[in-house]
Amino acid sequence: MVRYNFPEYEIELEISEDIYFPAEDTFFLIESINLTNLHHSIVEIGGGSGIISIVLAQRNPKARFIVTDLVFNSAKTIGTNCRINKVEGQIYPICMDKMQGLRFFSPEYIFWNPPYLPIDKESSSFPHTEKIMLLGGKKGYEETYSLIEHLRCNKIKAKLITVFSSLAWDVKMLKIFHKKGIKAEIVDEKKLFFEKLYLVIFDFSDSNVDR
Ligand SMILES: C[S@@+](CC[C@H](N)C(=O)[O-])C[C@H]1O[C@@H](n2cnc3c(N)ncnc32)[C@H](O)[C@@H]1O
Repeated sequence: MVRYNFPEYEIELEISEDIYFPAEDTFFLIESINLTNLHHSIVEIGGGSGIISIVLAQRNPKARFIVTDLVFNSAKTIGTNCRINKVEGQIYPICMDKMQGLRFFSPEYIFWNPPYLPIDKESSSFPHTEKIMLLGGKKGYEETYSLIEHLRCNKIKAKLITVFSSLAWDVKMLKIFHKKGIKAEIVDEKKLFFEKLYLVIFDFSDSNVDR
């Protein structure tokens, strides 16, 4: 475990090799969502090192976060990183598949910087931990789509903010959601050397259930 300093956010994080090291997609999500004045509950899925929720917690002292990760060491390390950055009272880390165990809970926002790359010949030989961090299914977006289906089926009243990559997804695919009556829009884009990232909001907040 090595401790890293992220001066732009004034935080320090312990990160080991089996934990996603914050990258362009992480910073894109933090900078694009840039939410202040959050008072409610937030769920972050796949917290990795915990960086996104830790930065948001510091900017929003009244907000409370449940942060999940499929990898036990990530969930454990998020707890450590919350203590290092003094936000342990705001963030509750859990080892969980997406938010499967939170079926009747409607947070204000759900964030997920998901594994979004497709499984192909090259990536199928990645080590197991890298596969969990990076690969979202044969097409790349299956993990995210299964979360969206979970939110829809369980009438979870929340806004999901997530990331897609042009390596695995096309903006035309938003039409499929619109046809199903799901509100979805691209709110930001970032061009990188070999891909374009899209920040997309799926708005289930006015679905027919009480929070
Ligand atoms: C691209 S990384 C993002 C990590 C961190 N949020 C960030 O932006 O730096 C994806 C994260 O999702 C986690 N993950 C993958 N599949 C998951 C699942 N089904 N449920 C919860 N977490 C998952 C991985 O372990 C990894 O930490």
